[in-house]
Amino acid sequence: MMQTALELRNLSKTYHIRAGGGLFPAVNTLHAVRGVSLILPRNKILGLVGESGSGKSTTGLMALRLLEPTGGQILVGGADITGLDHKALKPFRRKMQVVFQDSYSALDPMMTLAQIVAEPLHIHGLGSAREQTDQALDWLVRVGLDRSYGSRYPHELSGGQRQRVAIARALILRPDVLVADEPTSALDVSVKAQIINLLQDLQAEMGLSILFISHDLSVVRSLTDSVAVMLAGRIVEQAPTEAIFADPQHIYTRSLLDAIPALNPKDRQRRSFISPAQIEAGTPRYSAAALGIPPSDVPGLVQVSPDHLVEAVVTP
Ligand SMILES: Nc1ncnc2c1ncn2[C@@H]1O[C@H](COP(=O)(O)OP(=O)(O)OP(=O)(O)O)[C@@H](O)[C@H]1O
Ligand SMILES: [Mg+2]
Repeated sequence: MMQTALELRNLSKTYHIRAGGGLFPAVNTLHAVRGVSLILPRNKILGLVGESGSGKSTTGLMALRLLEPTGGQILVGGADITGLDHKALKPFRRKMQVVFQDSYSALDPMMTLAQIVAEPLHIHGLGSAREQTDQALDWLVRVGLDRSYGSRYPHELSGGQRQRVAIARALILRPDVLVADEPTSALDVSVKAQIINLLQDLQAEMGLSILFISHDLSVVRSLTDSVAVMLAGRIVEQAPTEAIFADPQHIYTRSLLDAIPALNPKDRQRRSFISPAQIEAGTPRYSAAALGIPPSDVPGLVQVSPDHLVEAVVTP
């Protein structure tokens, strides 16, 4: 039986946005995430892909309890952390860390790199000040910097070096789960490859479980064990990485794969993959008899082969 590091059950997030002013402004409802269920097994990397605005970061932040879900549950190592208060959550905070695209803004400019990397140990009261600094310097080495970097400041670093520091800071508490939200999107190609290699090495050494959020499907292909595809707040396909790339079932997954060469941060905002009408017309259909489940007019996630889930209509 595969052990689960992180599980999301039917997670959702709804925003109510006031449109206009006055005494009774209109309120628009935005379903940023709608009913996402995901399992991140221990010691595996799960990729979360989908166009801009599909709800990837919202999902990642809710998984970490850095953003409150509107509904659903979050389980860490089997424990439901959805309703835990600040105090009860603290031991779980140690187990779950995050690296963002723009880690620079998260690094305090007034602190040395040794202080920045040691801070989580300090917050959780682990070890003496001396031990905390020693561990931080060891971690700087582990992420490919040397100990002399301990006395430097964030502004002295390149983008790739900053991401190395962010990774050291995230991993110094030896978390079980790492959420990496576009950790390499702001980096040049060669630096990006180095950071991906570093993450890959550390994952293997530490037995980390990583939720890897990315637009970069070539990175996702080389790094992840399985992939979940998000569209407009929901998961439309989830499968082992080979199956997603070799045998995509959903029209939206295919459109994402077709667009790989254009998937760079500069033009991703402009890119519109596929229209809602095309998606509706192209929603896969499977026969109920073949799947051994009742027919349904409403598209939902169905299992089309072991470990391969697709949003589909099940025909009689
Ligand atoms: N605080 C907020 N208030 C209102 N709407 C929000 C808020 N945060 C996010 N959204 C909306 O929720 C939706 C999902 O946003 P999210 O950032 O999760 O997308 P994403 O898939 O991470 O996109 P990107 O690839 O650009 O990072 C978007 O429509 C976004 O505008
Ligand atoms: Mg995002």
